[in-house]
Amino acid sequence: MARVVVLPGDGIGPEVVGAALQVLREVAPDVTLEEHPIGGAAFEAAGDPFPPGTRDALAGADAALLGTVGGAPDSAWNHLPRPQRPESGLLRLRQHLGVFANLRPVQVMPGLEHLSPLRPEIAAGVDLLIVRELLGGAYFDPRRGRGEDAAFNTIGYSRAEIERVGEHAFRAAQERRGVLTSVDKANVLEVSELWRDTVTAQAQAYPRVTLNHEYVDSVATLLVTRPQRYDVLLTENLFGDILSDLAAVLPGSLGLMPSASLGARTGLYEPVHGSAPDIAGQGVANPAGTILSAALLLRYSLGRGSEADRVEAAVRTALAAVPTRDLGGTATTAELTAAVLRAL
Ligand code: NAI
Ligand code: MG
Repeated sequence: MARVVVLPGDGIGPEVVGAALQVLREVAPDVTLEEHPIGGAAFEAAGDPFPPGTRDALAGADAALLGTVGGAPDSAWNHLPRPQRPESGLLRLRQHLGVFANLRPVQVMPGLEHLSPLRPEIAAGVDLLIVRELLGGAYFDPRRGRGEDAAFNTIGYSRAEIERVGEHAFRAAQERRGVLTSVDKANVLEVSELWRDTVTAQAQAYPRVTLNHEYVDSVATLLVTRPQRYDVLLTENLFGDILSDLAAVLPGSLGLMPSASLGARTGLYEPVHGSAPDIAGQGVANPAGTILSAALLLRYSLGRGSEADRVEAAVRTALAAVPTRDLGGTATTAELTAAVLRAL
């Protein structure tokens, strides 16, 4: 039987995770949900933002659903030694799970085009997925150094590292509209040439997917001028970090954005936003990003695509009927959640 480790965390984390749990219990009542502490809450309870009890619970779990971690700017947590701060708990969690593929769907939902900062005709119908390599490249390559007047980092990738994240992107494209855009800078970078060769060879195994290669600088422009041209985008860690934050402006509210991080066995699912200390405890946070993350969990880790589709459709219906405060409406967390459950 499927087992999901639930990590509510800090700030609005417990509020938005509470909402997602109601939805999961409704559509997948047989799944075991097991709560454990992480972040500042775990530091308070166990003196460690990623305590051994939480780590042990993840062994053999099918997925983890995370809220958010971190305190307000004036929180005492910010003065702790770095390894004890809430944010290190999250980084250790991602590393522990070996989640090398970060998936960020970016959707402008029908009826919510007006929230996008882009003109409605550009924003309408945007539905793309960014697949970002998460554990390699410049952020992790040990070949780095800093002298007084010079410094360097290295973007190193092996064929195997490219293939394993590429596989996630091809599979996703196959299940979506069948168009994969691999993003690189192959006109300048050696590593991008290997990236391009590897992905091109891999495409043979996915005859239903059309593979395009585009340069990262050009993609940056097109993402905010013609976003409708994209289905799945595949890219390395640094490019993906920048492009996924850029793409996050398209829907118009951080509260709507889900993410999935996949790797060895246990997938990690979390909203893109932080702990929102300014509204924590008021019951007004938008739980959509977390509920949509739970939908990704159903689809990618539990193989329940039709339940995931149902949840996504219910969230769209609920948001259109009773928008939350970040969307210019008045619905509370509980009211939006109730609307999602009704729509299910
Ligand atoms: P934030 O995402 O928490 O908040 C930015 C703004 O968006 C705030 O005005 C907040 O009220 C609003 N907001 C965010 N999520 C919302 C939601 N679901 N519904 C309605 N409004 C929402 O980013 P900020 O303020 O920079 O960081 C606050 C704390 O969160 C910090 O301690 C930071 O380290 C942590 N953080 C944690 C992340 C994680 O757990 N993955 C990611 C980003 C930040
Ligand atoms: Mg970023």
